[in-house]
Amino acid sequence: MCHKATAIAHSNIALIKYWGKRRSTFNIPAVGSISLTLQELFTQTKVRFDPSLKQDMLILNGKRSSHEIEDRASRFLDLIRRKSDLPFKAQVVSHNNFPTGAGLASSASAFAALALAGSKAAGKTLTKVELSQLARLGSGSAARSIYGGFVEMKTGRKLNGQDAVAVRLAKPDFWPIKLLIVITTTLGKGIGSSQGMDHSKNTSPYYSQWIKTSVNDLAEMRLAIRNKDFEKMGELAEYSCLKMHSLCFSARPALIYWNQLTIELMHYIRELRNSGLPAYFTIDAGPQVKVLTLPEYGSTLRKKLHQVPGIKEIIETGPGPDAKVVEVRQ
Ligand code: PMV
Repeated sequence: MCHKATAIAHSNIALIKYWGKRRSTFNIPAVGSISLTLQELFTQTKVRFDPSLKQDMLILNGKRSSHEIEDRASRFLDLIRRKSDLPFKAQVVSHNNFPTGAGLASSASAFAALALAGSKAAGKTLTKVELSQLARLGSGSAARSIYGGFVEMKTGRKLNGQDAVAVRLAKPDFWPIKLLIVITTTLGKGIGSSQGMDHSKNTSPYYSQWIKTSVNDLAEMRLAIRNKDFEKMGELAEYSCLKMHSLCFSARPALIYWNQLTIELMHYIRELRNSGLPAYFTIDAGPQVKVLTLPEYGSTLRKKLHQVPGIKEIIETGPGPDAKVVEVRQ
């Protein structure tokens, strides 16, 4: 049996946001979501189960992780050990090719890569459905990163969350839209998404409406993607993003993930749109602004965004592939 495997999983950006859990224990989402898996942003993770190790170890971007992060990885490895009757502790070496913990969905690619590399190293070849279930237990959005292209996450109905998995809507080459990720700050984010979701659920008076209206948002987005209707897709993505952040603003105390530059960029993108450039923004639980555009406008838009004083970096990306195993060794 092999004890060592390496996998790569790409990050994703939600076009229709996931915010709120039906069951926190199993990370079961209260609303479905639709995402785009990203070509340029990925995590590569090597897992080695080793009888000589006394405890699990996580080396992230060349450095030993904090106890908190290592514990989270260790609890996730316990799930894999239980599935495969493997008693050994593991060394995990992981690398993100993009800024970690800055609202660029590093937990999505991290847990998708760990699910794939960990299960393979434990001698298991899981189906994509099983991998999506497993990745979800690490982070809700990770369930989507198992697939490339356009992906939908289902809430499912079962209490144990078995049917809360992602499905593919369209392959990466179906529609080569562009996403420009504008980094407004390299400082780590404040409140984590799980905590933010629970706080919004418990205190925002808008939460029940968020749940109720999500079904229609998903249906409209599915159609926009199927019809390659860029304006519709962009308009829905902005709407879902601002609706999610409205839950955060209406929580008590309010959660504010944005900085001044985030707001400035939102206005600027709307101005550019009014002047004829196809550009729509979306923002996750952090201050970075992600701008959707059509391939032929990528470089013009990039130049315009670079003119905004204070921005740190722009990463240009498009639809990326499925998570995959790159090496398995005895
Ligand atoms: O997967 P989590 O628990 O980090 O939650 C992700 C939440 C958002 O990024 C804000 C939205 C989403 O659907 O990815």
